[in-house]
Amino acid sequence: MSTRRPLVAGNWKMHKTGPEAREFCTALAGLVGDAPAADVAVCPPYTALEASAEALAGSPIAVYAQNVHENEKGAHTGDISSAMILATGAQGALVGHSERRAEGDTDGQIALRVRNAIDAGLLVVLCCGESLDTRKAGETEAWVTRQIRSALEHVTASDITSLVIAYEPIWAIGTGETASPVQAQEACAIVRRVAAETVDGEALRVLYGGSVSPANAAELMAQPDVDGALVGGASLEPESFAAIVAAAG
Ligand code: 13P
Repeated sequence: MSTRRPLVAGNWKMHKTGPEAREFCTALAGLVGDAPAADVAVCPPYTALEASAEALAGSPIAVYAQNVHENEKGAHTGDISSAMILATGAQGALVGHSERRAEGDTDGQIALRVRNAIDAGLLVVLCCGESLDTRKAGETEAWVTRQIRSALEHVTASDITSLVIAYEPIWAIGTGETASPVQAQEACAIVRRVAAETVDGEALRVLYGGSVSPANAAELMAQPDVDGALVGGASLEPESFAAIVAAAG
């Protein structure tokens, strides 16, 4: 049995206004209670971070941003810094989500974002994962290995308490096509092995993401190298997200 505490995080993507987030978070806190069996986080859009953090004050549920810029300040229209995220009451940030990579976030930026966000005091959930073409070509391991090595370029062993990695195959995101438990286990084991070149692999939490639902969450998270879930669509309703949290226990 692993001693790693599971983490279930809900990535809302571009959904929910501040008032909607407040209502959601109040309902979620009631469903999850004071002592969930897993760490729990929501990842609202930037504009709803503060409302979410306020609504979740005093609950065990954390708030993470969906991205963070690598610089502390400056001429970066549309971006926000680690300090700005922390000032909303949020404690973490996703970095390197495939939807951000598709919008132009580069490997070099992602490596700097990981470093600078950890330095600022954020928990980083680094995302990686291959496309369907890459999987069909049998290159999943090489792809994920390259992504992890690149993103952890500036990370050292002492960063382990500030780092989580989520494996999210692009072909499973928003498609309803989940990786099988065997596929999720294989890929999360690869992530752990490669990350162990830099941090303590036994201590690292590795999440699976991609069409996680209340129906498949328990089996996915029961895999030995899957320490929780990064949930998209099923995190938008309090009941379905709370059901996934319960499945982690
Ligand atoms: P879905 O759960 O909607 O497939 O999204 C997964 C995801 O991208 C979470 O970051």
